[in-house]
Amino acid sequence: MKRYIKIITLLFAVASVGYTIQAKAGDEGHGGTITFTKPASSVVFDHKTHIDMGFDCDSCHEKLFEYKRSAEDKADFNMASMYAGKYCGGCHNGNTAFASNTKCGSCHNNVKAKIVFAKPVKAVIFDHKAHIEMVGDDCASCHDSVFPSDKKSEAQADFTMDSLYKGKYCGKCHDGSMAFASNTKCATCHIGVKGYNRMFKTEKAAHKGH
Ligand code: HEC
Ligand code: HEC
Ligand code: HEC
Ligand code: HEC
Ligand code: HEC
Ligand code: HEC
Repeated sequence: MKRYIKIITLLFAVASVGYTIQAKAGDEGHGGTITFTKPASSVVFDHKTHIDMGFDCDSCHEKLFEYKRSAEDKADFNMASMYAGKYCGGCHNGNTAFASNTKCGSCHNNVKAKIVFAKPVKAVIFDHKAHIEMVGDDCASCHDSVFPSDKKSEAQADFTMDSLYKGKYCGKCHDGSMAFASNTKCATCHIGVKGYNRMFKTEKAAHKGH
């Protein structure tokens, strides 16, 4: 008798786990479209495409991802982990699916338009979207050769004009040949403190609550 109760309890446990997942999964029967907001905010993951390929829930849950939004709160949710076979890199390894160090734009299909550098000087504007269009959708002309994805340029001691003049960072193209030289048109790149404040005024106001 005791044994039957145990089995029945077990069955209930299994059934309720199944139920919770179903309930969470919503109408579509899966997690829908997931927009990651950290650390970069440009990856949109589509359940439907992956499930249509024939993957069942177990291929990703829970060994690569939990049944709830939690990956982006983890410190190791970055490209280095993908390359090491974690998260999307569990499949996007050049074997099961295209490798994580290729086709950046397939996963990062929603890059934010503008990046503003505030160090060492305030402020330099870089129009990511415009550049992607200008250089023809080719992420590889900058990543990872000029701008490695695991490094923030602002954090590098050599992110200076001297480096640009030597052909590093923006200077790879802004050399007077491919694009206007780095020792000209200072104000085209440097929007200055005023430009920076203008650009972030709305955000600051929102923080203050007015
Ligand atoms: C298979 C999907 C996939 C591919 C391909 C991919 N990424 Fe990512 N990338 C992600 C995910 C997921 C994250 C973490 C979520 C986020 O930051 O939006 C991420 C995060 C990042 C970040 C911020 C975190 C970090 O590692 O510094 C950068 C920068 C980045 N990717 C650049 C690239 C570049 C450059 C390429 C191509 C060489 C690339 N990614 C290819 C999925 C991908
Ligand atoms: C190819 C990988 C993959 C497959 C297959 C997959 N998922 Fe997901 N699922 C994810 C990722 C990635 C997330 C986001 C996890 C995170 O943000 O931490 C997610 C999140 C979820 C969430 C939470 C969504 C939210 O907005 O809170 C649910 C529910 C979910 N999946 C259900 C399912 C179900 C049910 C199946 C099978 C029908 C399934 N998933 C198949 C990758 C997958
Ligand atoms: C269980 C294995 C698996 C996991 C985990 C996985 N993928 Fe995929 N993904 C695939 C396969 C297989 C393909 C199709 C084969 C190919 O294109 O190389 C694919 C294709 C894609 C495509 C192209 C789809 C299209 O519309 O052309 C994108 C974008 C993508 N995956 C993003 C992601 C992101 C982002 C993650 C992590 C959040 C992820 N995948 C995790 C297996 C996986
Ligand atoms: C002309 C150069 C250039 C091209 C081309 C380019 N990027 Fe970038 N990208 C940058 C720079 C500069 C940064 C800022 C990185 C830093 O702080 O060093 C950046 C940052 C990023 C980041 C992290 C921040 C964010 O906004 O999410 C991702 C992800 C990224 N790029 C993806 C891509 C993808 C995908 C493509 C192709 C579709 C691409 N980039 C093409 C120069 C470029
Ligand atoms: C892969 C080559 C490449 C790299 C790297 C690159 N640029 Fe450019 N950039 C171009 C091209 C091409 C143009 C358009 C031609 C021109 O204006 O001379 C351009 C135009 C611009 C413009 C004027 C157009 C606009 O968006 O308003 C600015 C500003 C600019 N780049 C800033 C930067 C900054 C800042 C960096 C480094 C963070 C950078 N670029 C890195 C190729 C590049
Ligand atoms: C192609 C874009 C571009 C052009 C053109 C440009 N800069 Fe810069 N500059 C940058 C970037 C990127 C940085 C590093 C990021 C930051 O400080 O915000 C920088 C940093 C600096 C710095 C601080 C670091 C250092 O080297 O001491 C000074 C000062 C500076 N620029 C002055 C100038 C002057 C003066 C001109 C015109 C002769 C000029 N810049 C033209 C992109 C540019």
